[in-house]
Amino acid sequence: MAKPLRLGVNIDHVATVRNARGGLLPDPVRAAKLAISAGADGITAHLREDRRHIRDDDIARLKAEISKPLNFEMAATDEMLAIALKTQPHACCLVPEKRTERTTEGGLDVAGQSANLKPAIHALKHAGIRVSLFIAAVPEQIEAAAALGADIIEIHTGAWCEALAEGQAAHADAEWKQIVAGAALAAGLGLEVHAGHGLDYASAEEIAALPQIVELNIGHFMIGEAIFVGLPETVQQMRAAMARGRATSSS
Ligand code: PXP
Repeated sequence: MAKPLRLGVNIDHVATVRNARGGLLPDPVRAAKLAISAGADGITAHLREDRRHIRDDDIARLKAEISKPLNFEMAATDEMLAIALKTQPHACCLVPEKRTERTTEGGLDVAGQSANLKPAIHALKHAGIRVSLFIAAVPEQIEAAAALGADIIEIHTGAWCEALAEGQAAHADAEWKQIVAGAALAAGLGLEVHAGHGLDYASAEEIAALPQIVELNIGHFMIGEAIFVGLPETVQQMRAAMARGRATSSS
């Protein structure tokens, strides 16, 4: 039997809508609570250096008010590290960040940046915070993540999802094979394996079949769907898609 598969809901884009007008509404913490009551296993929020969506007080309120684990996405900067150590989230997912990008475009270059990442990973682990590294599923990066003592890798599924959405079958297939092999390699090295970026119902169902993956973190698609059918219904449909995929899992 495959391990259970958790759903982490990323509520960043509730804050995007709020910030489009200023003020307090819609409240991302309310969305987080609603997602949890509808079946989410955790909440993910990315405090970007430019604070374009989630803000410092959102992170503090999430930590204080939600009843499930908070996965705090952040760049490995001194400023973010200090916030993480103060907030004490359940986990920190270290992501690369460029101010000009619309979203997190590529994985973290763990192999090339290990000297920079090492102190941040050490400090977070020392504080009892689980450390996740958001990487492409390439062996060099996975091995570097294990060598640095990360607890978790989150496989960047963006390139696969984009190829699927654009109907580039050969590209999607190559990305998929890399994800399958990467998940097996990472689990073999003792890493917990998560995945996220660009997932929708169909791709979440497909990736749920990989037995090594124990958590999916999903945001943009779900918040978009919630506009039409509501957040609880979206969480329930996503959970159903994941359960269908998991039921086909090979082990
Ligand atoms: N996981 C990580 C590490 C991310 O940076 C993001 C985007 O913020 C997500 C998951 C969620 O991606 P999406 O919003 O495309 O579902």
